Amino acid sequence: MNLILLGPPGAGKGTQAKRIEEARGLVQLSTGDMLRAAVKAGTEVGMKAKAVMEAGELVSDDIVIGIISDRVDEPDCADGFILDGFPRTVAQAEALDTLLTEKGKTMDVVIEMQVEDDPLVGRITGRSTCAKCGEGYHDEFKKPKVEGVCDKCGHTEFSRRADDNEETVRSRLSAYHAQTAPLIGYYGEKGTLKSIDGMAAIDDVTAQINAVLDAV
Ligand code: AP5
Ligand code: MG
Ligand code: ZN
Repeated sequence: MNLILLGPPGAGKGTQAKRIEEARGLVQLSTGDMLRAAVKAGTEVGMKAKAVMEAGELVSDDIVIGIISDRVDEPDCADGFILDGFPRTVAQAEALDTLLTEKGKTMDVVIEMQVEDDPLVGRITGRSTCAKCGEGYHDEFKKPKVEGVCDKCGHTEFSRRADDNEETVRSRLSAYHAQTAPLIGYYGEKGTLKSIDGMAAIDDVTAQINAVLDAV
């Protein structure tokens, strides 16, 4: 099964994608994570993307379409993948349709995570990630069981994203409303859209997603 998690910054796409990956053996494809890896590695793509990401704007369609087109060809995607943060513009959605058709693949369901803007700022400014295994945490909503120690791997260093400050979050939210929200209509017309309440607690959101996926 192939699916898209659609929602604004802080909606919980990454949190839920990791859970679906573990429970169902699908691969999480996060263009944000891939771009951050490229920035860290100092590749050509990374050098182009760095300032754009720090400003909270969208990286060019060509770059992200190229990344996804190559990535879905890898063997681990054969049994299904979760797109997290892609597509983000109508042009990306159209390119995705074309490339999936060319590769003989289909998009089974698009899950829209409905959330309100204001609480997202707090979700994002409170976010941290284990520097070793990448497990995500929140200062208030998802603390490690032992303070300062990763639940998954025991590591004690955590990192915060360069774009996780209030000013950049506001730009990311406006980019979402202007450029990404039109995809709700795009997939609504195709009949693949399912909407869930992303304001619920993390476990409740997982339960709603499982109900959608079980019905596909
Ligand atoms: P990307 O990395 O995709 O960031 P984003 O869309 O801004 O989303 P986030 O990762 O911030 O949020 P999330 O929905 O994953 O939330 P999470 O689960 O972590 O993109 C970054 C940048 O890269 C973009 O701005 C752009 O520049 C570029 N880019 C990427 N893809 C692109 C594309 N296709 N085209 C062009 N440019 C692209 O949760 C957030 C926090 O809230 C966590 O701390 C979590 O613990 C907590 N939380 C999660 N769910 C809940 C809940 N239900 N209740 C309470 N807290 C919760
Ligand atoms: Mg994310
Ligand atoms: Zn860890």
